[in-house]
Amino acid sequence: MSSMEQVAQALVAPGKGILAADESTGTIEKRFQAIQLANTEEHRRDYRELLFTTGGFGEFISGVILYDETIRQKAKDGTPLVKILEKAGSIPGIKVDMGAHALPGSSQEKMTEGLDGLRGRLKEYYAMGARFAKWRAVITIGSGIPSCKCIEVNARSLALYAALCQEANIVPIVEPEVLMDADNTLERCFEVTEWTLTEVFAELSRLDVKLEQMLLKPNMVIAGKLCKKQNTPAEVAKATIECFRRTVPAAVPGIVFLSGGQSSPVATANLNAINASGPHPWPLSFSYGRALQDEAIKAWKGDPKLVAAGQKAFHARAKLNSAARYGKYSTALEKELVGL
Ligand code: 13P
Repeated sequence: MSSMEQVAQALVAPGKGILAADESTGTIEKRFQAIQLANTEEHRRDYRELLFTTGGFGEFISGVILYDETIRQKAKDGTPLVKILEKAGSIPGIKVDMGAHALPGSSQEKMTEGLDGLRGRLKEYYAMGARFAKWRAVITIGSGIPSCKCIEVNARSLALYAALCQEANIVPIVEPEVLMDADNTLERCFEVTEWTLTEVFAELSRLDVKLEQMLLKPNMVIAGKLCKKQNTPAEVAKATIECFRRTVPAAVPGIVFLSGGQSSPVATANLNAINASGPHPWPLSFSYGRALQDEAIKAWKGDPKLVAAGQKAFHARAKLNSAARYGKYSTALEKELVGL
């Protein structure tokens, strides 16, 4: 088995998932604003150090997606954060896209930038310890959109990114995110996700990306946040699996969901329902950002005296998502660990 296959499989090992801690400096600012914390390099380092030094981290977190600044940072005692992760038994990864920017000729749709110079950056990141990478493309649902050009441009860039990663011995996480911010129904999300994934796998095939050496990071098939009819976890699970069975080849070693704005308990409950309805052709796991971190940030509040409280909240949510990987999450467990 190639080293990339081993990494891909390790990232979706039973009971484990990925922590997306790759917020750009602009995005982490929004998270810090919620606790009225200044967005300084030191605070960003302190926060990531809090997460990565949580006791038992590697038991639930197989890998961490880092931001460029973080992969270069050292903990307070001088240990590189990458070394802390490796010691905890977690694989360092890196976000390599340069964000979503306006699609030319469109006022609402986005394309992801970052292909220029990517080959060189991947080489540098590999030398720094990164063994997997992430590239996020966003697809917006609205009146008359998504457009064909939006899906095609984003699918092509995802495939080129993935091919460059594999050339550099780095496992690509391919993330086409159909946003859940609008008022669309679950059925509309299904159509757009099916279309998007079909295009993405066609482009991956055209560029000879090895499916065994990548992971897919998709949205769940779910109603938009502003839709009046919200779905039960069982409905989300049924639609998500039906959509993926049509579009995601069984050769893909794992599917790791983004949380996309779902609350922490909802993201856990939906993942649980997906796994409880198995067996499925692929391991289905998490690569959550907000849904893994929201409670930890609120408990920490940026106060050095509350580091242990932040870590306790992070550990509880990671453990609950680990249970959801086996379809063994329950409201009783939620109550026991989070106390709601
Ligand atoms: P969320 O889980 O907050 O959607 O973030 C995951 C991610 O990595 C988005 O690119």
